[in-house]
Amino acid sequence: MRRPFIAGNWKMTQSRAEAVALAQGIVSQQGKTEIEVAIAPPSVYLDAVSQVTKGSAVGLSAQNMYHEANGAFTGEISASMLLDLSCKYVILGHSERRHILGETDADVNRKVHAALAAGLVPIVCVGETLAEREAGNTKSVVQQQFDGSLAGLSNEQMSDVVIAYEPVWAIGTGKVATPDQAEEVHADLRKLLETRYNSNVAAAVRIQYGGSVKPDNAAELLGQPNIDGALVGGASLKVDSFLGIIAAAK
Ligand code: 13P
Repeated sequence: MRRPFIAGNWKMTQSRAEAVALAQGIVSQQGKTEIEVAIAPPSVYLDAVSQVTKGSAVGLSAQNMYHEANGAFTGEISASMLLDLSCKYVILGHSERRHILGETDADVNRKVHAALAAGLVPIVCVGETLAEREAGNTKSVVQQQFDGSLAGLSNEQMSDVVIAYEPVWAIGTGKVATPDQAEEVHADLRKLLETRYNSNVAAAVRIQYGGSVKPDNAAELLGQPNIDGALVGGASLKVDSFLGIIAAAK
C-alpha cells in the first residue's frame, strides 16, 4: 500500500515571521496519521521552520538543490547542507525551474542522483504546457521528462522517489485538471514505472498531483486509483486550506 503524501510548496513567498507562524499553525494541528505531510519553505527559512517541525508529524522539504557536493558554486545549496537543516525531501524539476530558470531533464537527473546518494527523498516534477496538451503531446512530453529526469536509477533508488504530475496550465491558474485528465497521466506514469523498472517499483512509487489543488477538489482527485497525494502551492499558504486538503486525503 502506498502511503498518501501531501506536500506544501511555499515557493518564493512568506517573510521569516510568516513562515514560522504558518509552520506553527500546521504543526500544532497535524498529529501523526496515515497521511504523510511535508512543507517546503524558501531555503533561507528552512532553519527557522525546522525548529518548528522538529519532532512533529510534519516533514521538511527544500524546493531545489545543486547536484555538486561542495565547492565553488556561488549561490547554490548542496544535498548535505539540506540534510544539515533537517530536510527529508527536496522538490526537483518543478515546472517553474524548468520554464523560468531553464532547467533541463539532464540537470534534474544529476540532482536526483545527488539527492538519493545523500539520503534525501526527491519529489520529481513532470508536466506538460497548455500548448503541448492541445497539440496532443501530453503523453510523449511526460514520458520524455520521466526518462530524462529519472535515468540511471536502480530499482531500489526509484522506489524511494516521489513523482509529482503538475500540468503547467493548472499551476496557480485555478484551472484544475479533471480527475479523469489527471488519472490518465498518472496511469501512464504507473505503466512507465512498470516497463522501465518492474511491478514492485510501480506498486511502491507515490505519484502526487499538483495544480490548483484546493480543499473542495482534493477528495475527488485523491480518490483516483493512481493519485497518491498532492503537491500544493497556493492552498498550502493558509493553515485551514492545507489542513483541509490533508483531511480530504483521509
Ligand atoms: P498551485 O497549487 O498554486 O496551483 O501550485 C501548484 C504547484 O506548483 C505546487 O508545486
